[in-house]
Amino acid sequence: MEQRPIVASRQQPVRAGRRQAVIEARKVAVLGAAGGIGQPLSLLLKMNRMVTELALYDIANVAGVAADLSHCNTNTKVTGYTGAEELAGALKGAELVVIPAGVPRKPGMTRDDLFNINAGIVKTLCEGVAASCPDAIIAIISNPVNSTVPICAEVLKKAGVYNPRKVMGVTTLDVVRANTFVAEAKGLDTKDVDVPVIGGHAGETILPLLSQATPRVQFSPEEAAKMTERIQNAGTEVVEAKAGAGSATLSMAYAAARFAESVLLGLSGEQDIIECTYVESEVVPGFQYFASKVRLGPDGVEEFLPLGPLTAFEQEGLEKMKGLLSKNIEAGIAFANK
Ligand code: NAD
Ligand code: LMR
Repeated sequence: MEQRPIVASRQQPVRAGRRQAVIEARKVAVLGAAGGIGQPLSLLLKMNRMVTELALYDIANVAGVAADLSHCNTNTKVTGYTGAEELAGALKGAELVVIPAGVPRKPGMTRDDLFNINAGIVKTLCEGVAASCPDAIIAIISNPVNSTVPICAEVLKKAGVYNPRKVMGVTTLDVVRANTFVAEAKGLDTKDVDVPVIGGHAGETILPLLSQATPRVQFSPEEAAKMTERIQNAGTEVVEAKAGAGSATLSMAYAAARFAESVLLGLSGEQDIIECTYVESEVVPGFQYFASKVRLGPDGVEEFLPLGPLTAFEQEGLEKMKGLLSKNIEAGIAFANK
């Protein structure tokens, strides 16, 4: 088959340096596709020329979303699936499964308060993945991510199909926020800013490495502490602004679409695709799962990038999150094995 390079289109500008990937037939499944994140994410994936087939799965309202999206004149084929009996059809042949299924926070709640409902949802969906597309890369958005990723891993281990390089928690929104806030504070163009965010995806487990921002930026200790806190609380900022109507959906869809594009570029053999993601990791001793920069490739995570030097403030942040993250991880593992 002739190999066509991706070209920037009006709908989907391809980011600089990312034009060499070859378009291959790729099926992506979105589980929870009719939700606040699922719908705009599915629209962005429908606009991505690397996605040739888009399977939308939800327990409710998915037929309308699929019909609606299918009228957009891009080449991605859209199909809708609903109910447990149709999950296998949605997943069959998928190379990337993105999971935003589950309930969002309301003001006053922590992400851990979602555990009781979302843990079971993620477990069931991952059992479906294990049965129908065990080689797929799984990108988990459902909160609490610090626990839902270990749940997914345990489910796949039980089924004998776990590949730690293919189970990823989506923490891209933390990076997107850090880039936005740092660019605003320093009068930079956001497209030039890149701030690694490590750890996990809840409160103090979210640790932006401002000292490693590109381009280099200077913050006083007070400014660094304030900026870190803003990034850690950004999810809550949206939850409070939405005042009971849910949590971040549009910025999350944007972030997940970026992450999905990076995964697909990696699958296609594109070089130097780097993202922060929450995965089983040996980057920091004592943290079984950890978000940090990885290089993505044809088999998922190809390489863990070293953390690099941390400031005393960042090192303190790392120490502080240890107990919190371990508790989240243990809760996920215990739930999956009970
Ligand atoms: P939502 O309620 O708008 O949508 C969730 C969707 O999941 C609904 O359409 C619902 O029908 C569906 N669903 C529920 N159970 C399901 C099941 N068993 N199988 C398939 N679909 C199912 O919520 P939302 O705003 O889209 O948020 C979804 C999740 O994403 C929440 O847990 C939220 O906390 C999380 N989230 C994570 C991040 C992140 O950075 N990782 C950011 C924002 C939100
Ligand atoms: C976010 O960071 O926006 C999400 O994790 C949703 C939430 O509950 O804050």
